[in-house]
Amino acid sequence: LDLPGVSIPLRTVSGVFAAERIDRGTMMLLRNAPIPAACSGVADVGTGYGAIALGVGLRQPTAGVWAVDVNHRAVRLTEANAVRSGAANIVAAVPEDVPSSLRFDRLYSNPPIKIGRDATRALLTEWLNRLASGGDAFLVVKQAMGADRLHAWLAEAGYPTERAAAKQGYRLLRVAPAARGGAPDGLTPHDLAEVRAATGRAWAVLGRLTGGRADSVQLLGHKRSRAVVKIKRGAWWAGQLQRAATTADALRASGYPTPAVLGFGPLGGDRFFWVTEFADGDSPAGLSAALTRQTLAAVELHAAVSPPPVRDWSAMITAFLNGGIAEHRFPPPLSGLARQALDLVPRPVPALHGNEFVHGDFTTRNLLADGRRLRAVIDIEGFGRGTRTIDLVALLASIIGTGRETADQAGLIVEHAIAASDEHTFRACLAHRVLAILLSTTGHAQHLVATADHARALLNLAR
Ligand SMILES: C[S@@+](CC[C@H](N)C(=O)[O-])C[C@H]1O[C@@H](n2cnc3c(N)ncnc32)[C@H](O)[C@@H]1O
Repeated sequence: LDLPGVSIPLRTVSGVFAAERIDRGTMMLLRNAPIPAACSGVADVGTGYGAIALGVGLRQPTAGVWAVDVNHRAVRLTEANAVRSGAANIVAAVPEDVPSSLRFDRLYSNPPIKIGRDATRALLTEWLNRLASGGDAFLVVKQAMGADRLHAWLAEAGYPTERAAAKQGYRLLRVAPAARGGAPDGLTPHDLAEVRAATGRAWAVLGRLTGGRADSVQLLGHKRSRAVVKIKRGAWWAGQLQRAATTADALRASGYPTPAVLGFGPLGGDRFFWVTEFADGDSPAGLSAALTRQTLAAVELHAAVSPPPVRDWSAMITAFLNGGIAEHRFPPPLSGLARQALDLVPRPVPALHGNEFVHGDFTTRNLLADGRRLRAVIDIEGFGRGTRTIDLVALLASIIGTGRETADQAGLIVEHAIAASDEHTFRACLAHRVLAILLSTTGHAQHLVATADHARALLNLAR
């Protein structure tokens, strides 16, 4: 494969696409599509022996390229071709080995039109739906193979498409779904250099991970190693990340399932990076009996560490219930529920105790499971201290109303939440959580109803 600036030897075998010579459509794509942005995550859908993956990956070594194919022989060839060319940023994989939480900044494909119209469309939409906000895709299709029909169909199906180039009977289509929100924050090449230096590995960015709210979360890869990097903003993180690394070590030493910290540090201004091992898994939509048991066992270990007295959640909750709440006004349909929540606790509220690890955002979103097995508790870096009852109540709030929880599981978590401290502490944590939920309403009619239902379901647990 000869491209301006690079010449890449590729080995092929009969039985893979374009075994004799690089496909003309593939060459048209490589000559006309832009190379990926630095530090972006890319996929080559239907990679064959890896011509597109290597052609773009070798020209942008900070971007990681998933070279995906259903054909195992193609995947093995691509892997060997990547090794031979010295590309450390290519991951050859069958589709099921690509983590489901991964989103891409750019897709390239010379799609397998031969699998049939409906199958091609299904394949393309499956991958287009995995574009990160602001991402785009470059597809090359022969005009005689229905490029214009595919173009029209994509546009109709809600994927804004333009013709980026037309040459020698091929169309290069650029699909660019509307960005949701602003462009997501991510590593710059300078940031990546800092991360590489701190962790001692020449990472490439392999894509974005879904699930994070405020943070930019990216997957890093180097050969077979995987890591997650987050960018945190705010001066507070300068000290907190050091404390979080020490706390993560202590938690892990007790057997707690949180990924190891690989490095952290400043990026200039108020930006900091935080790198942990990658735990593959998905946030469960609800908690099965098995996951509930494992999660409760993990929370028991919160008592195994006694973090430094920063972010004292017990004190914050006491202060909120005794004073802070008075500053808030509830929309009229919710004020009755707010009163019910406050009626759960005596006034003034006696101080809550505890100097245990408190995750602070202990919801199913921050659990990763692999079927019945709890793989990891993630996002611990914002931790504080207090009583672990706080985390158990947050967990309850995240499963109540999902329609998947059972009364048994909720009952079991309530029991543990009380056993971890006492009845009063449980009620105070519940009151705080209900009030926080009520305050989070957008005020729109539909959201008011959903908020009220959620709050009511939680309040019922106090009975
Ligand atoms: C037209 S070839 C392109 C190969 C390579 N990108 C190139 O340019 O030489 C399409 C490739 O898609 C693969 N493929 C077919 N169905 C697929 C699917 N569902 N998911 C991923 N790859 C698929 C085929 O095995 C084939 O290697």
